[in-house]
This record gives sequence, structure tokens and C-alpha cells, in this order.
Amino acid sequence: MEKSLTYKILEKNLINGILQGGEEISVKVNQTLTQDSTGTMVYLQLEAMEVNKIETDLSVAYIDHNTLQSGFENADDHEFIKSVASKYGIIFSKAGNGICHQLHLERFGKPGAILIGSDSHTPTCGALGMISIGAGGLDVAIGMAKGYYYLKVPKVLNIELKGSLNKWVSAKDVILYILKELSVKGGVGYIIEYSGDGIKELSLTDRATITNMGAELGATTSIFPSDEITKDFLIRQNRSEDFILMEADEDAFYDKKIIIDLSLITPMVAKPHSPDNVDRICNMEKIKIDQVAIGSCTNSSYTDLMKVAKILKGKKVHPNVSLVISPGSSNILKMLSDNGALGDLIGAGARVLEATCGPCIGMGQAPKTGAISLRTFNRNFKGRCGTSNSQVYLVSPETAAASALAGFLVDPSTLGNSPIIDLPEKFQVHNNYFIFPNHNEGEAKVIMGPNIKPFPINKALCDKLEGKVLLKTGDNITTDDIMPSNGKLLPFRSNIPKLSNYAFGTICDNFKDICVKYGGGIIIGGHNYGQGSSREHAALVPLYLGVKAVIAKSFARIHKANLINAGIIPLEFKSPLSYDDFSFTDNLIIDNIIYQLENSSEILIINETKSKEIPLIFNGSKRDVEIIKAGGYMNYAKGNLK
Ligand code: F3S
Repeated sequence: MEKSLTYKILEKNLINGILQGGEEISVKVNQTLTQDSTGTMVYLQLEAMEVNKIETDLSVAYIDHNTLQSGFENADDHEFIKSVASKYGIIFSKAGNGICHQLHLERFGKPGAILIGSDSHTPTCGALGMISIGAGGLDVAIGMAKGYYYLKVPKVLNIELKGSLNKWVSAKDVILYILKELSVKGGVGYIIEYSGDGIKELSLTDRATITNMGAELGATTSIFPSDEITKDFLIRQNRSEDFILMEADEDAFYDKKIIIDLSLITPMVAKPHSPDNVDRICNMEKIKIDQVAIGSCTNSSYTDLMKVAKILKGKKVHPNVSLVISPGSSNILKMLSDNGALGDLIGAGARVLEATCGPCIGMGQAPKTGAISLRTFNRNFKGRCGTSNSQVYLVSPETAAASALAGFLVDPSTLGNSPIIDLPEKFQVHNNYFIFPNHNEGEAKVIMGPNIKPFPINKALCDKLEGKVLLKTGDNITTDDIMPSNGKLLPFRSNIPKLSNYAFGTICDNFKDICVKYGGGIIIGGHNYGQGSSREHAALVPLYLGVKAVIAKSFARIHKANLINAGIIPLEFKSPLSYDDFSFTDNLIIDNIIYQLENSSEILIINETKSKEIPLIFNGSKRDVEIIKAGGYMNYAKGNLK
């Protein structure tokens, strides 16, 4: 059968398993990336595995999320990550160097390789013709320690782009249009592979805007072929040696295919509070705006910011608008500085921030009460910007710049001729924010400040599981409900004991006290338990508090994987009606649980308080059972390391 690009790369890196939809395979991890908000936990996990060296070709630790350093906690985390990087030969990217995905695209991503990263927008590098997947922190730590990554072979969705882009329409409008067509669930279970004549219209960084927001479609990742445009990008980045041609066979098999005509796309906007709540700007009523934020890993490339500079040159930002700009990398910022574009931005009244995530993660620039904020970012969930009653609209850089001048949301084509950007023959590449391995790995001492607490480690599973019902939740509990994450708690991502005070804070005042009183136990959940972000803290904090199992009507996929990784058993009711058979503090027992897990998907639980036996289902692979028996993925992998 003719092969998709996805299958070619998986086959090239296959270690174990059969390359067939739905089968579990392991693949070689060529590269990893971490950012600081998830990275501290990744490196605590790597340390706990007691390996001497890492197995990847290249690993990079970026500092881009919590760079405000409003207390010692962030600075301590950065120092810890730097010291672990030095110990294992990981490249360290200092705060201010740029946003992990933009930097990885510029400096390290390679066609044909596999990258896993502890950030949901890791798929950005799919623009280079590589498979780049956002994963849980422990998966990334094990990727470094063992050099492999397990995944179920996803289906492949081919999006064929045809036709040409209209003037003033850019990659952001394309991906917003696709989100409108497919919704935030449209990519679930798929790798999205782009093809067609229309991709020749898109520069490498345009493609990266599209692969970046594939995360908002729910896709495992997105990928473009590696072609002449990729080659041109790599040459300009002084990395011509990294280029290889990678493309699908002509009549490649795809599980699903859709065709998008680029000429039908006009400037688009995602309205509050979801990236798929998309409309054409020409259909919108006049909206007065208060803030415009340009940047993030979606739209902070050299071309994006040069377009903004050209639109703003010699003009003045509207008096009622605060315009903030965060460049994607220090190289881009330096190039804008050297070619005068930075002067054009500042001259127009823009506030230029350092090259980090900044406002995208709520680190500064929260808009005023009830404000309308126009952002070139990828998410507009309620409250993410730091002001719960603000309204965030997602747009292209062109629309953002034109609107910042007008004071209200405008279609940028009202400005006349669209800006044309000539790329420099060579992009500037400077290494002064990078610390590269010095080949004295192993000698470096790991530095752990007082905010950094050890990673919780589970014990091997006993044959009798007993515990009280600690909490009974409703449907659609999110990872935010389980372990809230906000600007206040972000500095404590490496401090599980501190975070445990806030577990289930949105639905239960004293979950920690209950866990302490009963010595841990079992949680009862409704449908779609653990939906939302991939945050593994939503499994690690319950582990720390002694949660042994979660019994729910159904689970969100990534959270269920994170529970298994932590050694917490995710069980489902055989009949959802059994949900009513459980109450707070009921005493529950599962006898012979190891035998039951090994021999049947059906698990019998005894509700001692109600004198009832209730059938449950364990819906996982044989490998998942082994991980649970070992007390989590780290114990399992550690055992396998020896
Ligand atoms: Fe950073 Fe926002 Fe991207 S937090 S990695 S710029 S989604």
C-alpha cells in the first residue's frame, strides 16, 4: 500500500509493534523538549529514575513560561533545570531566549525525526516534516531515559489545500477556518497530514502556525511534507545539512480526507471563549477593543512581526488600545532591532516585551475588567488571560495590527495593499542565551532550592485494594478542577505538597484533610472525568494524597493515561447506573486485584458499607496492567532499565 508521510516516519523510527491503526507501538525518540512550567517535574522524574545518561539525539530545556520571577520560586526552578541539564547533557535555553516551539523550529527540529515535548503545542515542529507530539511529563522523562515512546497508531486525516490565498489572508485565518469546519474535537484520534498545491503558498512559519493550532483541533499532531520551502528555511537558518526530502507517496492511503479551497478564506476571528467559535470578520458588528496582544508560539515569527511593523510604521496606536508584542525568539528581536523595525513598533506606541510566552500564559498583561482583548494566540478560554470577565478574540497578526490602529476589530484589507516581506538571506543565529553541554556530564551537582520537593513515588500494587470513598464528583470534571493552575499556583509546579492544599479546590473545601483522615482512598466520578489539559499534576497530587483508584462513568483519554502512569487505577462502571451505589465514606474492597486485572477486563468491587458487589471494567492494555502492578510508569521503566 502507498504510504502517508506519517507512516513513513513512524516506520523509520519503529522499535516494537505492528504499524496498523489502533495497535500499540513504541518508536525511537530522537528529540525532546521541555518548558519550565512542566520541566521541573520532568527533571525530578528523570532524577528519580537514576539513569547515568540520556538516550535521545538531542534534548532541550527551555525557560519561557514563568519568567517574571516575582518570588524566588521561579528562579529556583530555573536553576534546578539548568543544573539537571548540565548533568545529563541537555541544551539549556535561558529565560529571554524565546518561546520553546519557535526556538525549536528555528534551531533544532529536523525532517523525518520524532520529537516529544512536555507542552501541548509541541506539534508546531510538524511544519518541518517531523512527527512532534505533546506528551505527559513522565513520557518525556522516559523518552530521555530510555529513548522510546509508546503510542497507539493514530488514524491519518489528509487535509488537501488547493487554490491561492486572498490578499490579507494568512495562515492564522486558514487554521481558524479549519477549526470552524472541524471543531475542537475534529482532530481527536488523528494525525493531520497536509498536502496539495496550496501548501506551496505557505512559508515554513505559516505552516508552523497551522501545525501549532492543530492542538486546538484535538489532533495527536499535524505534519507538512519537507520540501523546497523547508529546504529554503533551513538554509536561511544555517542548517542546510538537516534537510531531507520527506513526503507521502502519490496515492497514499488516508483514513479520512478533506479538501480546503484557500481562495474561499477571508480574514477570520475566533470569538470568546473557544478557538472553534469562528466567524468571518466581515460578518462581525463593530467591536471596540481595549487591548491587542501579538506573539505566542502561534504568531511570533520574523515574518509575522515584520508585517506588523510595516502596518504600524509611521502611524499611531489608538489612544484607547494597549498594544503588547512578544517576539518568538531573541534572534527575531535582534533582527527587528538591527533592521529598524523595532523602532517602527515602538514609534507607533507598542509595548515590546521580552521573547517569552508572557501574556499567553497569564504572566503579565492581564486586561482590565470587562475588556475586549484581541490576541494572535491559540487559546481564548475564559480567564486564561488573567481577567475572568474579559473577552478574548483570536486573530491574525495583520488583523491585530490594523485593529490596534483603528481601536476596533477591523478587516485588515481596509488598509489597502498588503505588506510584502522579504526574508533575509541568512537569519541571525546567536547562541548567547543557550548553554550547550560541556561534555563533563555526570559531574554537575543538581541544585534544588527550597521550593523543589521530591516527586511522589507509588508502591507496587498489593493484591487487596481497600479504601473509603473520598469524593464523589459529577460529569465533566476537568484537570483544572482536580488541580487548579493559575498565576498564583504556577510557581509551585515543582512542589506537590504545597499544591496538594488546593486539590479539587473548585468542588471540595477540604479534600486534603479528608485524605489525611482516611489515609487515602478512592474517588467516584461521572462521565468524561479529567477532561481539559494534559496536566499530569492532576494525577500526581492525588497520588501524593493517597488516592489508589478512580471509578468513573468514563475518562478523558490523556488523564486516564496520566492516572495509569501514576499507578492510580482507572476503573469504569460496567453499568453507569452503579454510580448511585456509592456514597461518601463507603468502605470499598477489591480482593485479588492483580489476578483480576491480569485475567479479565471485568473487576468486582465490594461496597462493604452497602453490602453490595458491583462489576467494574478495566479498559487498558497488558502493558498498562504491568505499569499499574509496578506502582506506576516510573517504577515500571526503572525496573526495565536495570
Ligand atoms: Fe507558551 Fe502560550 Fe505557546 S504559554 S508555549 S506561547 S501556548
